[in-house]
Amino acid sequence: MALTPAAGSGCNASSTPPPRIHSPKPVNSEVEWDSFDPLAYVRHNYSVLRPDDHEILCRIRDFFAGAKLSDARCVDVGSGANLYPVLSLLPFVRTVDLCEWSASNVSWLRTQIDSYDEVWDPYWQVCVEHPAYATLADPRRHLAQVGRVRRVSVFDLPRHAWDAGTMFFVACSISADRAECEHAIGRFLGALRPGSPFAAAFMLGSHGYSVGQRRFPAVRLQRAEVAASLAAGAYDLDLHEVWPRPPLRDGYLSMLLATGRARDD
Ligand SMILES: C[S@@+](CC[C@H](N)C(=O)[O-])C[C@H]1O[C@@H](n2cnc3c(N)ncnc32)[C@H](O)[C@@H]1O
Repeated sequence: MALTPAAGSGCNASSTPPPRIHSPKPVNSEVEWDSFDPLAYVRHNYSVLRPDDHEILCRIRDFFAGAKLSDARCVDVGSGANLYPVLSLLPFVRTVDLCEWSASNVSWLRTQIDSYDEVWDPYWQVCVEHPAYATLADPRRHLAQVGRVRRVSVFDLPRHAWDAGTMFFVACSISADRAECEHAIGRFLGALRPGSPFAAAFMLGSHGYSVGQRRFPAVRLQRAEVAASLAAGAYDLDLHEVWPRPPLRDGYLSMLLATGRARDD
């Protein structure tokens, strides 16, 4: 993987760029996120609705439908090239901010907000099995009206800004540094107003992942570590582990879905 220098790694006045770092355990600022290929990512992960994503989507649909949300300001953090977390919020939003750091993913998201691809239709079909979603006749048009794509890092999210949120496969998959993963979870929960419902998903035991020809880092998380990080900023936590058969890719153990409410910290 080609890596950019770590932020703040040099303080002299030389115009010569510092040498590229090839760290075996890159932190978030060392990774070339702009080379993330959203089309390759969708093709590999979401072009077919897998049983594991189906199970997770059913659970977050039922969770948000039961959360007494309406006219809410919502956020999806690290949206990348996945729309199903946002679809699960759609009937309940006044606005939904899709916060993403990679420029290539931000461009892709802007085209999808205007009119999302048919690949997402089966995901919406799962949503409309619940009556709370069936009342929304034109989800494509609704997302174009309420969706806003923002280039924001999870580490710079404002505090207490949103009424509900999702963060899928982000904290575990943006760095190889455990402390950064924990920090990302804390920033996500802190960005929600106290009492706000949220859903977050994690890869457990991940060794990193490929998107097209590029390799991206991950933290090899265990369920107990995620539970402890979430418990510091949330209550009413519910954790559900999904063991994919067949696995999506090599190099991970399972997926962990967490739902709950943000704590007043
Ligand atoms: C494994 S992908 C997950 C994408 C998507 N949420 C999903 O469910 O498939 C990780 C995402 O985090 C984004 N990302 C990396 N660093 C970030 C940061 N500092 N703040 C926000 N997003 C970041 C990446 O660009 C990528 O889209």
